[in-house]
Amino acid sequence: MIEKRPESMERITTPALADKFIEEQIAEIRAQVGDKKVLLALSGGVDSSVVAALLIKAIGKQLVCVHVNHGLMRKGESEQVIEVFQNQLDANLIYIDATDRFLDLLAGVAEPEKKRKIIGGEFIKVFDEEARKLEGISFLAQGTIYPDILESDGVKAHHNVGGLPEDMQFELVEPVRLLYKDEVRVVGKALGLPASMVDRQPFPGPGLGVRCLGAITRDRLNALREADAILREEFDKNGLNNTVWQYFIAVPDMKSVGVKDSKRYEGWPAIIRAVNTTDAMSATIEEIPYSLLHHITARITAEVDGINRVLYDLTPKPIGTIEWE
Ligand code: XMP
Repeated sequence: MIEKRPESMERITTPALADKFIEEQIAEIRAQVGDKKVLLALSGGVDSSVVAALLIKAIGKQLVCVHVNHGLMRKGESEQVIEVFQNQLDANLIYIDATDRFLDLLAGVAEPEKKRKIIGGEFIKVFDEEARKLEGISFLAQGTIYPDILESDGVKAHHNVGGLPEDMQFELVEPVRLLYKDEVRVVGKALGLPASMVDRQPFPGPGLGVRCLGAITRDRLNALREADAILREEFDKNGLNNTVWQYFIAVPDMKSVGVKDSKRYEGWPAIIRAVNTTDAMSATIEEIPYSLLHHITARITAEVDGINRVLYDLTPKPIGTIEWE
């Protein structure tokens, strides 16, 4: 049955309301967890980062964060997770580079929900293996938020890790499950997380896997990652990181004919998506200055191997979902 947010629940918009929520959650987490250990899948996205910070505050080193690099992270993201949580917040953090495992399993798989299931399933396996190594883990924390619950009725196979196998004895800890994204950010700020992390755009659990459309190949995934890094750099430079809710590149599994250095040059198109929303249930399109779009196009086509066109997606949600897959 789908858990409903109580109608009496006030929207968390201020530091005071966030503090109240944090106090309540700390008490609830301590009551639920006692002196046991909790394992958290820390992707580095806003949701799991806020859950990590909440749990660090509530139970300190009883929390074991596991960051799995599934090879589908944005450029520099795993490094940032290590920097913030291990170096700055002194968390119990285990880093696992499982790139080959994920990419080998995904080879040749084109169907979006199948890709999600593979990525989610492999995550569970990695955690299972880790938990067995780690002795005494009783709980699994997740950064599930309310839109994940609302949309979980078959629209998406799952968000984040979900779908635990039968023999996994972990009870779930999901402290932000009734919050909308904007509320999670307010809570994160109140918890003292760095702005660069709290204001970070949402990043789906399956990562670049659902943006490297169709069957993922390493060369196209690399092109996507590099193009995405250029987009982020240019949005940062032009202040759009503060105004646009979510922006990214998707690269479809198709090539078009182009010309480079007077030679035929077949390449993939990079599709830019930049949307605004408050709760991800609907979204509008950001009006990016044309001059900036031209500049980004010039940079991506010049700097990224294999990309020969850049497109801007003007489709609102509905009718398009935010992600392409
Ligand atoms: P859609 O594409 O459904 O996306 O309009 C709504 C929001 O959810 C994110 N998203 C996901 N997050 N696992 C996640 O953790 C997923 O499989 C997934 N699919 C979409 C998307 O980036 C957007 O913020």
